[in-house]
Amino acid sequence: MVEFSSRMDLLKGSEIRELLKLTSRPDIISFAGGLPAPELFPVAQMEEASKVVMEENGRAALQYSTTEGFPRLRQQIAERMGAKNNIKTDADHILVTSGSQQGLDFAARVFLNKGDVVLLESPSYLGAINAFKACEPKFVEVPTDNGGMIMEELDKILATTKNVKMIYVIPDFQNPTGRTWDLDRRHKFMEIINKYEIPVIEDNPYGELRFEGKSMPALKSLDTKGLVVFLGTFSKILAPGYRLGWVFAETEILSKFNFMEQAASLQASTIGQMETSKWIDMFDLDAHVAEIRKVYGKRRSVMVDTMAKELPDCCEFTRPDGGLFTWIVLPEYMDAKELQMKCLEKKVAFVPGGSFFPNGGHENTLRLNYSCMPEDKIVTGITALAQTIKENLK
Ligand SMILES: Cc1ncc(COP(=O)(O)O)c(C=O)c1O
Repeated sequence: MVEFSSRMDLLKGSEIRELLKLTSRPDIISFAGGLPAPELFPVAQMEEASKVVMEENGRAALQYSTTEGFPRLRQQIAERMGAKNNIKTDADHILVTSGSQQGLDFAARVFLNKGDVVLLESPSYLGAINAFKACEPKFVEVPTDNGGMIMEELDKILATTKNVKMIYVIPDFQNPTGRTWDLDRRHKFMEIINKYEIPVIEDNPYGELRFEGKSMPALKSLDTKGLVVFLGTFSKILAPGYRLGWVFAETEILSKFNFMEQAASLQASTIGQMETSKWIDMFDLDAHVAEIRKVYGKRRSVMVDTMAKELPDCCEFTRPDGGLFTWIVLPEYMDAKELQMKCLEKKVAFVPGGSFFPNGGHENTLRLNYSCMPEDKIVTGITALAQTIKENLK
């Protein structure tokens, strides 16, 4: 028998990935994944961009390159963050990673020793929780309401908790709840952070996918002390298959992330970076994102309108202004895992919410994804889910 490190006891395969295997069957109406809609991928355009890269610079595309990333792509990322997130920076402050998931893994390894405390929204992104677990931290969940993290609670926790080494937040269209922080909370958050001077990981994969309302400035754009590490990604605005994300942080912090990347993977894919960069130069990313917003916005509306019509009054749900997810809170006695088994019999899938809470509990919650299903299936699936909930009311 081989022996594994004690860290392995902490890591379970993601329940969502297991569930996804089941729900990829074509007869299932799945609200379980968090995948972008594949019909919106610009396949033919990518083929064109790829051909140009190979013709112009094929040998470089197939070669190793720098850890920092492909220079033209870093420049495009810096420009986009200025235009979309109100963040002023340049290519030198961008590190390209293999998806923002890799940035999360590095963040834990850069900031956490075993037993250190990480603060995060309750609930939070399961992929981050799992990435952080490898460093064996303690998780302290900061209470939230429909406007996201409650700043008074954050302040209280920071005043009374030792060894807080990192704060992880998703202020825009959060995974799993779809919630977004308003401007007032963002300013309050930065005031608190500046008082305690603790590094913040701002994870922003969904910020550009706003269907309505005013764009909010990134926390990083309000950061006067260099405490915020911003994680961005092409996964939801272009295609996740390239596995391209980025880190923007002050030089001292970014250099630590760079060391981590050298050790973990040397660099992100050269050819993926060059093709993505070429696609952005040849085509119109803004127009592409506008198209994604239009389709997801419609699907969101169909989902929440059907929920409003069909769900019993004892259920609460979020009505996100963007992103990919909504969140349901069932009556307290109801277990979303049992509900899921019953819904699977009706060929409808979702993700029970309990695993988004690192310290357990909250089994009466569930996450629904709307980006991946056509509108008629959303109506059918939500109606069946609501019917199953009604059948199980006490
Ligand atoms: C909040 C959040 N962060 C990070 C990721 C990872 O994205 P990627 O590694 O594809 O950039 C996801 C993916 O769903 C996510 O929801």
